[in-house]
Amino acid sequence: MDKNNLNKKKIVLTYGTFDMFHIGHLNLLKRAKSYGDYLIVGISTDEFNKKKGKNSIIPFNERKKIVESIKYVDKVIEEKEWEQKIKDIIKYKVDYFVMGDDWKGKFDELNKFCKVIYLPRTEGISTTSFKKSAKTLLAFLEQLIKELK
Ligand code: CTP
Repeated sequence: MDKNNLNKKKIVLTYGTFDMFHIGHLNLLKRAKSYGDYLIVGISTDEFNKKKGKNSIIPFNERKKIVESIKYVDKVIEEKEWEQKIKDIIKYKVDYFVMGDDWKGKFDELNKFCKVIYLPRTEGISTTSFKKSAKTLLAFLEQLIKELK
């Protein structure tokens, strides 16, 4: 999309890690896009995740390739620090800032710059729950191997 066209379109911005991409992520992106014409997704870099105390399983470049290939997504940018959101909203002339409702209230101050929308999360699925299941399975297998020795 060229610059002139971008000026007329409604721009939507969201952020996330999108580790181990799942249906909750897809639903969020589809619904975010439905608020406008052009969806920008900020993906947390591996370094930023470490700062947040999160350890992503899938490296940034692969998470980026996956999210870029989703038909609702028009542009992917790097999320490197908490403070960049205001800069990105101004830079990309964002109309809607969309996040899952696990973040409800946390970004209300951004209403000064654009409309902030919190969408209900898809129930019953999260990357954290995948990781917990994998950990439990690993612990079970380690115990089993010990007992078999
Ligand atoms: N999301 C969602 N429904 C889910 C999981 C995530 O709507 N079941 C949304 C989040 O609210 C966020 C975006 O998808 O706006 C990216 O989420 P992210 O934090 O990367 O994924 P989670 O699966 O929530 O990961 P974690 O469990 O590590 O927080």
